[in-house]
Amino acid sequence: MQKKVTKAIFPVAGLGTRFLPATKSVPKEIMTLVDRPLIQYAIDEAREAGIKEFIFVTARGKGALEDYFDRAPQLEQELKSKNKTELLDVLKSTYMDSGAIAYIRQHQALGLGHAVRCAHRLVANEPFAVILPDDVIASETGCLKQMVDAYAETGGCMVAAMEVAQADTSAYGVLDVKEDIGSLVSVRGMVEKPSANEAPSNLAVIGRYILTPDVLKNLRKQTAGAAGEIQLTDSIAAEIDQGREIYGYRFAGQRYDCGSKMGFLQATVAFGLARDDLGDEFRVYLEEMVASRKAAQ
Ligand code: UTP
Repeated sequence: MQKKVTKAIFPVAGLGTRFLPATKSVPKEIMTLVDRPLIQYAIDEAREAGIKEFIFVTARGKGALEDYFDRAPQLEQELKSKNKTELLDVLKSTYMDSGAIAYIRQHQALGLGHAVRCAHRLVANEPFAVILPDDVIASETGCLKQMVDAYAETGGCMVAAMEVAQADTSAYGVLDVKEDIGSLVSVRGMVEKPSANEAPSNLAVIGRYILTPDVLKNLRKQTAGAAGEIQLTDSIAAEIDQGREIYGYRFAGQRYDCGSKMGFLQATVAFGLARDDLGDEFRVYLEEMVASRKAAQ
């Protein structure tokens, strides 16, 4: 029986340069798909997976993110007095238990691995999850819950995995597959951002991880890797050299790379269409817009 995963790290200290100028003053994680910030999707997924402690690795300029989780008494009072119970429920669904959130600063954006390392004292000696909020995954059962269920059987370290086009491997950590057993693959190695002809497979690592405290030990020794950054994948791969098991988990669901403009636009359309209150009207609008553009060509 594996130790339960109850802590999750949310690395949100990146500069978000692909969304300039917006990210000059708005943290990327506060940007909304329809009406919910990216971070809310990540929190909901973590809660569904049984996470009780939420550790944010933040940086200068991310104050709006911390404010987002505060209670809003004035707004609450206003909604109550106007009897807007549905909106009140929406507001309350964002509240977190006192003491459930911790914020740690990453003083320099030295890479994802470094951001995770910054949280090592709060994780102590337990397995923990890492969630990148800019990878948004639409699925019936949350991606992290799927992984936590699989991890209960396997232990070790587990990374979310997805097939990508061979030409795109240089944007991802890529798995060197030892054995493919359906949704689970056991891993022989991991390479960060390989070129298409050097990639050991087209199975890419996506922003959900379940990691052992040993990875934190590796991270403390880790030097800069691909792109001059301290890479989380390198410290996970070191586990294999130390004789421990790593698994890739092919999750069921659609992943959107909301750290890129194209991914964000695609997610906006998909989440808009999926909404009961907006979907039908939005679909008609999109169809008419596409038809009128075609007609004008
Ligand atoms: P990205 O590679 O998307 O980098 O980080 P970024 O800085 O957020 O965005 P761009 O590339 O400049 O547009 C992936 C995840 O790792 C976190 C980010 O916040 C994001 O969740 N990260 C990255 C850190 O927390 N610290 C870092 O030093 C780097």
